[in-house]
Amino acid sequence: MKTVLTGKKILFGITGSIAVYKAAEWVRELTKAEAQVTVVMTEAATRFVSSLTIAALSGRRVYTGMFEPDAGEEMTHISLARESDLFIIAPATAQSIAKLAYGFADDLLSTLVLANHAKVLVFPAMNSSMYCHAATKANLTRLQEYGYGVIEPEQGKLACGDEGIGRLVDWERARESILSAFADQDFAEQTILITAGPTWESFDPARHMSNRSSGKMGYSLARVAKRRGARVILVSGPSAIEPPPGVEIINIVSAQQMHDAVMEHYSSADIVVMAAAVSDYRPGKTMEQKIKKGGKSIDLELVPNPDILKKLGQKKKRAEQALLVGFAAESRHHIEEGQRKLKEKNLDLIVINDIIGKDTGFGADTNRVSLIDRDYQLEKLPLLSKEECADMILDKIVKLLQ
Ligand SMILES: Cc1cc2nc3c(=O)[nH]c(=O)nc-3n(C[C@H](O)[C@H](O)[C@H](O)COP(=O)(O)O)c2cc1C
Repeated sequence: MKTVLTGKKILFGITGSIAVYKAAEWVRELTKAEAQVTVVMTEAATRFVSSLTIAALSGRRVYTGMFEPDAGEEMTHISLARESDLFIIAPATAQSIAKLAYGFADDLLSTLVLANHAKVLVFPAMNSSMYCHAATKANLTRLQEYGYGVIEPEQGKLACGDEGIGRLVDWERARESILSAFADQDFAEQTILITAGPTWESFDPARHMSNRSSGKMGYSLARVAKRRGARVILVSGPSAIEPPPGVEIINIVSAQQMHDAVMEHYSSADIVVMAAAVSDYRPGKTMEQKIKKGGKSIDLELVPNPDILKKLGQKKKRAEQALLVGFAAESRHHIEEGQRKLKEKNLDLIVINDIIGKDTGFGADTNRVSLIDRDYQLEKLPLLSKEECADMILDKIVKLLQ
């Protein structure tokens, strides 16, 4: 499947940190995603992993020195830089960061950085004392002033045995930074409040009723909105998915808690996307003790939960202006139901999910949705991954904001 990374020319600089083995995995992931990854290693980096290993992972020649036999004909230090769409330096040592901060050009990697015109992403990795040293901090600030993206390392156990900040970020975080570097930052000025997942409505301390929402669609929206520069507040019901990096997550359990969290954060949002599958009903009474097994049937009363979307639609009428997007999970009469909800809840956009299809709706990695906007314009999207689907929903939101 074609992705954002397909055919992208990525220059990948590897420097001499113990975390080189992790970067080797990134090279493999990027190559798998059909990016053309050309790796340049410092002399120190080749002490940790051989250039042969990296060449096997990238399927391309690896460059290690400025004065290789063909360097004169190729002018490698210029030609590689000229061709790149993105320049990644991972792991970036304290030494290489210092060199880049002062514009040194005494090896192929530092020379390429100077000759390069593409966006540069620097992923530091080092012992926490080295990372926290004033010299390293000042050097990283300089790199940011040059317009380079600096991705802060993680806290945790370090290879030297110390505990602290300095660990190279994991692939999931790196991937988001790389995709963000290729994405339009068209949500840079926006705060987007997204709800995701199911809600749990308890009968007793052991049992609840819920629905089959996995949270995948809402989490994909959060991930893609963050990639496109938004501040993202994600109000999530119980879900097994890891929150996307950089997203502010608020975990809730019941519909009432989701209602309270949404109302609390609504005023700071420019856009609200209600992708959660909120339970329409909850038990009238939640037992303090577990309901005991008995031979007889029992009646359980269900009472309606607050309609969060409708309440937000009413607020919108009172000129509280967040753009409002609802989701409808329908098993039949999709379009008619969507139109009805759009009107009744005063939405700007409704996304209609077909929950019956095998490759769409709850739990699936793909989705096929229809969009109806406030002018009743209908757009049927093809079968897409949930991230692609999120991107198209956000494209539509951009148009509605104009
Ligand atoms: C086992 C070992 C692990 C190292 N790990 C790191 C590291 O994680 N980060 C770092 O900044 N330097 C680390 N160093 C020191 C660098 O390799 C050294 O500063 C080197 O000069 C970096 O050169 P380069 O930036 O040109 O690759 C390590 C050295 C050794 C021997």
